[in-house]
Amino acid sequence: MESYQYRQMDFDNPSLIEKLAHGVVIPIFGSRFFYAPFYRKLSLKGNERVLDFGCGPGTGSKYILSSLDDENGALICLDTSPYWLEQARKRLGKYNNVRFHNEDIREANIAEGSIDAVSIMYVLHDIPPLEREPIVNVIGKTLRPNGRLIIWEPTKLTHGMPPEEIKSLMNKAGLNQLWQKPKKNSWQGGFIKK
Ligand SMILES: C[S@@+](CC[C@H](N)C(=O)[O-])C[C@H]1O[C@@H](n2cnc3c(N)ncnc32)[C@H](O)[C@@H]1O
Repeated sequence: MESYQYRQMDFDNPSLIEKLAHGVVIPIFGSRFFYAPFYRKLSLKGNERVLDFGCGPGTGSKYILSSLDDENGALICLDTSPYWLEQARKRLGKYNNVRFHNEDIREANIAEGSIDAVSIMYVLHDIPPLEREPIVNVIGKTLRPNGRLIIWEPTKLTHGMPPEEIKSLMNKAGLNQLWQKPKKNSWQGGFIKK
């Protein structure tokens, strides 16, 4: 039986290496090859209301915004870390159709059924295992019927989570799986709200 280790990260006080990796190196060198193809899977038309759950420095959020119409599309960037949300604010400063939430989604005032699409990129595995189900349930509630969710999480035993857990959490939150893409050390999936 595989056993996954949970490693608590201090996202409020990242190390210099984490600041450089996630705030500078990945956005410059990794985003075109990793983030862009992933966000294309949302097939946004431009008029959607999207939630980037655990947006971090806003690297992926920028791709989402580039697919959204200024007037009719809107993005909510939510992250519990003041440090990373501030980086997202700076990165996305030129957009006026983005709103920032620095809080736990369970406290956020996001109306049920008001969201068309959700992205979760390398976030769920960083949430303590017992907190995942209540949080995913709230994310599921924000989605409208037929709303879509894409997720990409690492699957390493030392820092990751099993795809079976992701699928089970999504099913409990009322989402059906549409597709999956298992990779060597990670897993991507797409879901639709029933
Ligand atoms: C590894 S980073 C990924 C950031 C971003 N999605 C990206 O791909 O660049 C994980 C992020 O999840 C955030 N996070 C952790 N727990 C969270 C929670 N319960 N709710 C919202 N965000 C959370 C962290 O603050 C951090 O910014």
